[in-house]
Amino acid sequence: MSETTPLLAHTSERPGSNRMLLAKIAAGTLLVVSAIVLVALSGKPDTPLVHANQSSSGPIFPSTTVPNVTLVSTAAIVLPNQTSDPNPPIAEWVSETMEPPFTSMTNLILPKLHADFNRSIPTNAWWTNFMIADSHGQHLGEGQVTVTPYTVISLNSGLQVSYGDDRRVGDNAIIQEYFADDLVFSSNPPPNTRQVVWFDQLNVKLEFKRNNHHGTFNALLSRGSPYISVKYKGMVPKLSLGGNVGAITSVNDIQIKTGTISLTASEFHFHTRIERNIVQEWIVFFPNNVTLAIDPHTATVTGVDTFYGIVRAALLPQGQQKDTFKALLLRLANTVPVATDIEMATVNNTGVMKFSWRNKLMNPNNTGDNDLLMLAFPHHVDAFGEAPLANLSTILDSRPDIESNGSFKILGKMGHRTLKGNLTAVVGSTWTIVEPLTTVRFSAPRPIDPSKRKDIANSLVRDASYVPGAKDPYFFGKEIARQARLALIANKLGNFAVRDSLVAKLQGWLLPWLTGKNGDFFVYDTVWGGVCSSIGIQGMFYMTDFGNGWYNDHHFHYGYIFYTAAVVGKFRPEFIQKHKAALFTIVRDVANYNPNDHYFPLARHFSWFDGHSFASGVYVLDGGKSQESVSEAINSYYGVYLLGRVLEMPKLEQFGRMLLAMEMRAAQTYWQTKPDIYGELYAKNEMTGMVGQTKVTYATWFGPVIEHMHLINVIPFTPITEEFLSKEYIEKEYKVLYDGAVSRTVNPMEEIWRGYAFLDHAIIDPKAAWTEVQTQLKHFDDGNSRTNSLWWIATRPQD
Ligand SMILES: *[C@@H]1O[C@H](CO)[C@@H](O)[C@H](O)[C@H]1NC(C)=O
Ligand SMILES: *[C@@H]1O[C@H](CO)[C@@H](O)[C@H](O)[C@H]1NC(C)=O
Ligand SMILES: *[C@@H]1O[C@H](CO)[C@@H](O)[C@H](O)[C@H]1NC(C)=O
Ligand SMILES: *[C@@H]1O[C@H](CO)[C@@H](O)[C@H](O)[C@H]1NC(C)=O
Ligand SMILES: *[C@@H]1O[C@H](CO)[C@@H](O)[C@H](O)[C@H]1NC(C)=O
Ligand SMILES: *[C@@H]1O[C@H](CO)[C@@H](O)[C@H](O)[C@H]1NC(C)=O
Ligand SMILES: *[C@@H]1O[C@H](CO)[C@@H](O)[C@H](O)[C@H]1NC(C)=O
Ligand SMILES: *[C@@H]1O[C@H](CO)[C@@H](O)[C@H](O)[C@H]1NC(C)=O
Ligand SMILES: *[C@@H]1O[C@H](CO)[C@@H](O)[C@H](O)[C@H]1NC(C)=O
Ligand SMILES: *[C@@H]1O[C@H](CO)[C@@H](O)[C@H](O)[C@H]1NC(C)=O
Repeated sequence: MSETTPLLAHTSERPGSNRMLLAKIAAGTLLVVSAIVLVALSGKPDTPLVHANQSSSGPIFPSTTVPNVTLVSTAAIVLPNQTSDPNPPIAEWVSETMEPPFTSMTNLILPKLHADFNRSIPTNAWWTNFMIADSHGQHLGEGQVTVTPYTVISLNSGLQVSYGDDRRVGDNAIIQEYFADDLVFSSNPPPNTRQVVWFDQLNVKLEFKRNNHHGTFNALLSRGSPYISVKYKGMVPKLSLGGNVGAITSVNDIQIKTGTISLTASEFHFHTRIERNIVQEWIVFFPNNVTLAIDPHTATVTGVDTFYGIVRAALLPQGQQKDTFKALLLRLANTVPVATDIEMATVNNTGVMKFSWRNKLMNPNNTGDNDLLMLAFPHHVDAFGEAPLANLSTILDSRPDIESNGSFKILGKMGHRTLKGNLTAVVGSTWTIVEPLTTVRFSAPRPIDPSKRKDIANSLVRDASYVPGAKDPYFFGKEIARQARLALIANKLGNFAVRDSLVAKLQGWLLPWLTGKNGDFFVYDTVWGGVCSSIGIQGMFYMTDFGNGWYNDHHFHYGYIFYTAAVVGKFRPEFIQKHKAALFTIVRDVANYNPNDHYFPLARHFSWFDGHSFASGVYVLDGGKSQESVSEAINSYYGVYLLGRVLEMPKLEQFGRMLLAMEMRAAQTYWQTKPDIYGELYAKNEMTGMVGQTKVTYATWFGPVIEHMHLINVIPFTPITEEFLSKEYIEKEYKVLYDGAVSRTVNPMEEIWRGYAFLDHAIIDPKAAWTEVQTQLKHFDDGNSRTNSLWWIATRPQD
């Protein structure tokens, strides 16, 4: 399995080699990284590793990783001078949009093919692939971007549009939509360059141009639109249908045999034949009559005249209620979404989010039915509702001058199937999404079972002496968060001496990270706009700090730090107030809620239409942007919420609480597999490993072992865990985990994983789990401890 093993081989080596590297860097040695090192470590690109055996020791690392990366630079690595401010900024200096108080560095990976936005550039957005290359530095800007229901690829020569559902393949281990150029938007003469010229959270505008030609065309890509819309300005539109193998078989019911035909109309209904003899039906809409030349041999359609205006195309899906859906597509084609305002507010324990679209009319003279037709994912439909009328306090309003209380009609599932379930047609320019917000804070919602307090207290005393050893943000974070859990448990047990000593130690461990005094200190990346670790940002090899400098997994990494800081703040508010500027800067990297912040993107990882986060950063992966370990994303937003609370920053608190609610809904909708979304076969896994834009896999970045897929998506165990792992679900899920992993006698589950499996088991059988933890475990993962395990079991509901 040599092509798939490098990461695995790395599992045992990496922490050591990192430490070695760190030691050298800390000592000021100049490191010259040779290409040979990288070749030796390189692995198969772009696919999760498929390998059954994990290395036997070392903590779990559920990160998205970047296999087989081309060396970015062989230059010597020079660390900047650390910030030496002995008096870090104090609370009064903190403002929502302040300049980050960290040393600046420039990322070696540069975003390309974009206009000057004069602000931070989204690194993990659904469309970031337009600006980045693959892990070899190749195919710049050509990664897949899923707009839903279509996926597109942008090339200098035009925009390729794929209808993935016609190429969906799946079994019990993977469901994937392959890409093909079913429809290509281009021009005559063809463009030879393109760039992203504008974006908001749900839309992006790509401009195609030709050197020395005055004309342009812009792809107006809008999440959830059943149409792909392209605005031509002074170019002759050229469309190709049917991909490589296909051909146009008819247009507007005229059979096309040989020879170019010319046709005048404003709507063109094409039949094309693609692989496996599938017939696709596309309707292409123009604002008014145009004359097209249709060549069946090359399957292209070229406008006869230079054109100014919007052209739209929609595939007619063959799924549920196809005739009703077709009628809607024909009737509502005139309204083109171009921008979306997002509002977010909370009242009491309810969060409200509104998407309000701003539209353009393809033909402004059309006085008919100009409602907006959009498509919603299952998680939207489950949360659609009406906003409470009074006392909403606003967190985010991306366009305060727009009034957005319009109503919308939910027409039911129709037409398109996607990887994340069938889409629901919605008519109206505003959607209102209502989320119940958690009331869990630092504690479980019930006390520790009194009969178990003594065992927990004994264990606590032993575990409290643990000292974190990792130097990178992720492992360090896991380790300090483990000790932060103990401080809270000590508090519940009334052991204030242990609690206070733990809190003092946590302060001591955090302090260097907040003042730039640790080896791998935080820096501000002026290229993309973000907080990276100083070693990670040098990206010398793909695993450096789990790709922190590549913007992989920041929410996972920093989430543990947020949580720990929140725990310290609960007991020592003066400490976190003193370091508020540094803490707020790190949290802003992941959970900035101010759309006008120049320094950070809005909620870096969170995809507002997908309803969950993407972990993968600034390199293109097969399957589009993706995330594994949804539970660590939840942990991160839980940390944002608690930290916002103790920092007394209500917007930060409520923003974290709302992101937390949405990420938990996504975990329950898309990670905890159900037949309604994924079909019977895949749903039998009861948990997916990863969710990507065009691929869901029952695998992880470190192998397809059952316990990895299941447990990477439940860790860490904290009071928030019970909000997304229901007893009803675990009844089904634990059976799969037990049969495939817990009961396995050949190549049995490793102890650190068993430690988590027993906590999963505790949700349905706390009594058995207690015995399992007490009799079968000696070692725990670096993010877990015996004390926390016993606490978890002892706070499960008794029934
Ligand atoms: C790694 O990348 C290099 C450079 O692009 C390529 O030649 C090589 O085949 C890749 N290795 C694997 C195992 O994919
Ligand atoms: C996993 O390990 C077991 C025991 O060491 C071995 O028998 C088996 O072949 C290994 N499987 C793979 C896929 O390497
Ligand atoms: C670090 O500080 C020293 C002394 O002030 C200075 O000479 C050097 O150029 C600085 N290095 C960097 C990378 O800024
Ligand atoms: C860029 O943004 C900064 C900060 O928001 C602002 O002060 C400056 O005027 C902007 N520059 C341009 C050219 O818009
Ligand atoms: C558009 O073209 C069709 C077919 O040539 C013709 O019947 C129709 O009258 C035209 N419509 C307008 C508004 O010119
Ligand atoms: C989704 O749509 C397909 C047809 O495209 C249909 O076969 C399937 O039953 C639908 N699933 C659900 C859960 O509605
Ligand atoms: C919020 O809570 C207050 C106090 O319990 C209650 O009076 C009010 O009706 C609640 N508001 C909403 C919108 O539920
Ligand atoms: C709308 O009507 C005006 C005035 O009749 C006309 O000049 C314009 O071309 C029309 N626009 C479109 C897109 O048909
Ligand atoms: C709105 O808030 C005020 C002040 O907190 C409270 O008195 C009032 O009951 C609230 N009204 C509603 C409808 O929630
Ligand atoms: C929004 O609500 C306000 C106040 O209730 C009302 O006056 C206005 O007409 C509403 N606007 C829309 C677009 O429904």
